[in-house]
Amino acid sequence: MRVSASVPSRILLGVGAGIAAYKACELTRRLRDAGAEVRVVLTANAERFVTATTFQALSGQPVRTSLWDAAAEAAMGHIELARWADRIVIAPATADLIARLAHGRADDLLTTLCLASERPPLLVPAMNHAMWAHPATQANVATLRARGVELLGPAVGDQACGESGPGRMVEPADIIAALSRIPLDGALAGRRVVCSAGPTYEDLDPVRFIGNRSSGRMGFAIAAAAQAAGAQVTLIAGPVSLATPAGVTRIDVRSAQAMLAAMTAAAAEADIVIAVAAVADYRPAAASAGKIRKSGAALTLTLVENPDILAALTALPRRPFLVGFAAETEDLEARARAKLARKGIDLIAANRVGDGLGIETEDNALELYWPGGHASLPRAPKPQLAQQLIAAIAGRLAAPRGTPA
Ligand code: PMT
Repeated sequence: MRVSASVPSRILLGVGAGIAAYKACELTRRLRDAGAEVRVVLTANAERFVTATTFQALSGQPVRTSLWDAAAEAAMGHIELARWADRIVIAPATADLIARLAHGRADDLLTTLCLASERPPLLVPAMNHAMWAHPATQANVATLRARGVELLGPAVGDQACGESGPGRMVEPADIIAALSRIPLDGALAGRRVVCSAGPTYEDLDPVRFIGNRSSGRMGFAIAAAAQAAGAQVTLIAGPVSLATPAGVTRIDVRSAQAMLAAMTAAAAEADIVIAVAAVADYRPAAASAGKIRKSGAALTLTLVENPDILAALTALPRRPFLVGFAAETEDLEARARAKLARKGIDLIAANRVGDGLGIETEDNALELYWPGGHASLPRAPKPQLAQQLIAAIAGRLAAPRGTPA
């Protein structure tokens, strides 16, 4: 089964004058890792934040900063450069750049290139949240959107100015994922998807718990990809600090037992369940009502096994298509296939964890196994892998029963 995605091969990266310009350095590196040839154009003020030399080293190409550079124009003129690009990406796109683009200005190299290109650019806004919310910026954004310009973000959170709100530049990994979107349009249209994400916390007393490591990134990315593929998505999240993907219904839970109750209720009406959560296998036999005090001696905890949520869902009268995850430190395939069989599920996504892999990371790699079949999703940012997994699940649903690959 092929479920690959790739970024456009020739990317013109425009960098605006904002503090988020430093993230454009990481973006350049990641675009090249993803196989793209990258040519960078800095606005005059962007050079106050990052240097052309940095981007020249990262892109391996000369960097353009001015329309009036005779030597650069002789090598590749601005009209030629605009036509060369498969995609123009502007990150960060400042309020001023957005305004100039909305008004069709061509008062520097970057805006001239956008005007000379037949393809609308991808804008990745970054600015103070009040500047983003200002009616002038919003009117400019609406004008650009009406012209087919795609905007990615801004993300919500803490800003360099010390304030908080919508205005952060979307992370480079998410920009790569957006650029390498595989056509999922309608792949899960009309399907109801339930996805779990994050850890569970099993309370020992009012201040302590036993839990698993999990940022929730993988599960949240899968929920977003399923939603983008047209599904109605319910995300059952353990304790994580991530924003809810647009259009997704979120239910927050803490313990494995609470996750079992929420999953069982939601899965009864679902077509697909994707269990990404790192559920604690054990919980304290009894949580102490008061804080457990130090006694000077060793402390013995009695743990009891938590219910297996996925296995419980196989008994639902209207059984959904069940996808599990396997987080393994060794014997990936054997252990994943054993879980696939033991839990009685339809597909398992196995990932190596430990030593900085899989958990609490931006990237991951997945091996998919189902009865009689296998697919590899090589290392990529989690949002990109999530799209590939959704494409694979859509493919399995469409395949006649018993089709190996
Ligand atoms: O959140 P991130 O930082 O992005 O990291 C992502 C991840 C590494 C946590 C994720 O990709 C992952 O591997 N999730 C599953 C982790 C896990 O608990 O694996 P497991 O092998 O212990 O469990 C196997 C499957 O059974 C999982 O689908 C799990 O959700 C499910 N399970 C586990 C225990 C339990 N009591 N009930 C369950 O349903």
